[in-house]
Amino acid sequence: MASENRAAFVPSAGAELEVRTSDIHQPESGELLVRVHAVAIQPLDAKKLLSGYGGAGTATYPAVFGTSGAGVVEQVGSDVVGFQAGDHVVFDTKAYVDNDVNVRQGTWQQLTICSSKTAAKIGDVDFEQAVLVDFPLQTAVAALHHFLGMGKPGTASPSEKVLVWGAGGAVGSYAVQYAKSVGHTVVVTASARDTARQQSLGASEVIDYKSPDAVERLRALGPFKYLITGSGDAASQQALASLLQPSGGRFASVLGGDVELPANVERVYTGFSQAAQSEEHAAWRDWWYGEYLPKVLSEKLVEPVKFTKVEGGLAALQGASRDVFEGKVRGKLVVNPQE
Ligand SMILES: NC(=O)c1ccc[n+]([C@@H]2O[C@H](COP(=O)([O-])OP(=O)(O)OC[C@H]3O[C@@H](n4cnc5c(N)ncnc54)[C@H](OP(=O)(O)O)[C@@H]3O)[C@@H](O)[C@H]2O)c1
Repeated sequence: MASENRAAFVPSAGAELEVRTSDIHQPESGELLVRVHAVAIQPLDAKKLLSGYGGAGTATYPAVFGTSGAGVVEQVGSDVVGFQAGDHVVFDTKAYVDNDVNVRQGTWQQLTICSSKTAAKIGDVDFEQAVLVDFPLQTAVAALHHFLGMGKPGTASPSEKVLVWGAGGAVGSYAVQYAKSVGHTVVVTASARDTARQQSLGASEVIDYKSPDAVERLRALGPFKYLITGSGDAASQQALASLLQPSGGRFASVLGGDVELPANVERVYTGFSQAAQSEEHAAWRDWWYGEYLPKVLSEKLVEPVKFTKVEGGLAALQGASRDVFEGKVRGKLVVNPQE
């Protein structure tokens, strides 16, 4: 039985993290108590901590941030089927979608609570590898498959093309790999230094998004059945809207913002990373956690993004988040809250 829990508390909006003892929360019906061994700092975490960004919902304070993690099941609540103490799992929680639960369900602590519906057993896959995949791959696959209607792996023809703008990041890299696995021809924009990696992930053409003729070159490579921006910036949204002309259509964006777009273009933007937390998306969640994610991890179906392990446990989260916020990091930073 666990005897102590330590958590990185955000005392108030914009304040520095304070690492201190917290309650050991009891798993209720359908829930797991998990000892967290790896969290990957996402841009969302860093923006919430350092700029008070509320993209996935505002927090109540004192708060415990972090919405995804990997670790070992310590205890199961009543009515849990398929999990037992000792299982290695990857999971996400309601910490960013329900104001009242972040102290119980934030993953920036040693022991946290998640629903067994949003957890998957990972067998002997490393905690770091599992946590690198869950949040950003889930974002890419939710956007493309659940929200835009792209099929499941092996269901498309290469004659149907996909455009991933800003494929250099985690979400973009996983979007490329998912679209390729479905069977599409995948065209991307990325920085020039990333060209060889993008080709190895499955891109047939890699255009430098900084090149002045990027949109015209992409127009010649289209038309595209599915379009997504993995950078989400205004310039990328306008570029995709332009490529949808003259007939119009829709594209997915990882970010929203006040961007002027033509009337015949729909921007599909939501908390894709949090979709599994809503009962409205229960069928998606059950496929993701019950079938697809375990298969991806056990069969190593995606190339995980690069990561750097940051030593120092919960006390390292503040500095690591700042590095992510300031754009100093390529790949992900991973922290072990048990250190
Ligand atoms: N809506 C959602 O559910 C959701 C979920 C996850 C993430 N997001 C958001 O999606 C964004 C990306 O997340 P991530 O985890 O993929 O980040 P990440 O792994 O940190 O990716 C950052 C990379 O994106 C590339 N990039 C940066 N600015 C760019 C631009 N203007 N145009 C094209 N590429 C650019 C850069 O690579 P190069 O230098 O090689 O180009 C950079 O290294 C973040 O803003 C995040 O908050 C939203």
